Amino acid sequence: MPLSMSRKDFPEGFEFGVATAAYQIEGTRNGTVGRSHWDSYAATLGNVANGENGDVACDHYNRYATDLDLVKDGNFDTYRFSSAWTRVMPDGRTVSEEGLVFYDKLVDETLARGLKPSLTLYHWELPEVFADRGGWSNRDTALAFGDYARAVMDRLGDRVQAVATINEPWCVAWLSHFLGLHAPGVRNIRTATRAMHHITLAHAEGMKAIRDSGSTADAGIVLNFAWPKPDTDADTDAARRFDGIHNRWFLEAITKGQYPDDILEGLGAHMPADWQDDMAAISAPIDWLGVNYYTRTTLRDLPGAVWPAFEDVPGPLPKTDMGWEIYPGGLGDMLSRIAREYTQDTPLIVTENGMAGDDHLDDGAVEDPVRVRYFDDHLKSVLRSIGEGTPVRGYYAWSLLDNYEWSFGYDKRFGIVYVDYDTQERIPKASYHALKDAIG
Ligand code: NOJ
Repeated sequence: MPLSMSRKDFPEGFEFGVATAAYQIEGTRNGTVGRSHWDSYAATLGNVANGENGDVACDHYNRYATDLDLVKDGNFDTYRFSSAWTRVMPDGRTVSEEGLVFYDKLVDETLARGLKPSLTLYHWELPEVFADRGGWSNRDTALAFGDYARAVMDRLGDRVQAVATINEPWCVAWLSHFLGLHAPGVRNIRTATRAMHHITLAHAEGMKAIRDSGSTADAGIVLNFAWPKPDTDADTDAARRFDGIHNRWFLEAITKGQYPDDILEGLGAHMPADWQDDMAAISAPIDWLGVNYYTRTTLRDLPGAVWPAFEDVPGPLPKTDMGWEIYPGGLGDMLSRIAREYTQDTPLIVTENGMAGDDHLDDGAVEDPVRVRYFDDHLKSVLRSIGEGTPVRGYYAWSLLDNYEWSFGYDKRFGIVYVDYDTQERIPKASYHALKDAIG
């Protein structure tokens, strides 16, 4: 099943890529890697499906060359990956030459295939030494992140062409410290609020490190967005509060140097002292904004409950294996809204979009027509937004490989390439072939 569009439907220079992240694919048993809070979270009964962790993952550390061949053979222009803080600095502070050599090779091999390397500096494996001291609720963690960013950029900054400081700060802060569904699995509004600020401050420290390194890489941050939908008219305000925490908090901080007033109503009492002093650095100019989009969220008000007094409820649309509604229109609407209300001419890049499917290997092939349709409909939505004048410059499918889907372990398959975890064999799915043909 082919896509209904091709590269020529997109503006000149539009880049297609695939994305991955270190902990989800590399295998922490490979090479010297320090423990991260994900290792401890996964080692706690009940946190992760089947108690799975990133010890082996996709063994990408040993297979990166052939994995990059898959990116190249798929006709992609660019490859988004992350460096693991725990590999670059196994004890959180001391640079490991072995760790840097790995990313050195990865970048060189990416370039050797004519692909553009797009680096993410933090995709969630916080070294335990910082987790033990309060993790992202502690301001020092943001400062230490700056040191790590500097070490990576001093080494790779001459060759990576794009760099993001933080991946999905909402997940790092709210999902992990308020909802408790990612490491470190805390549920506390005060801790969550501090994390909401300190991860934003880490972005500022990262930007400083990138600029100081003299790197010419385009620098930005990757935020995750969900289209907020009130369940009924009575839930409009609940949807606004969700939108404020999930979508507007980071966007407003980075583009306007302020947090949304309506959300400070709930979080203000828990903010760290003198947080206002950080806002100028937090809103230093970025070269691009990464937009991760998967779904919309339907919100219901919880009258009488403590702030933020909403819950999300299942919507009526068909769902992916994650239980997430497939809502392509939200991607284009969100891109247009972000540009119109916040970023104006700053380039937007869809840094992640994709779905988990119930994929099976049959006779050496994986048919995933729902995913092909998902990409097609979301790409159409991107095209619509571009038609509205939004400066969208690229689109990355999540993900190159089936991989460690955090709390869901290896059960959820997001790859356009199937991974047989018994043999580590890679089998490109029908969606890989469809994208390859469309962008060839
Ligand atoms: C966003 C995250 O960046 C990535 O790590 C995750 O696997 C995907 N969403 C799918 O949930």
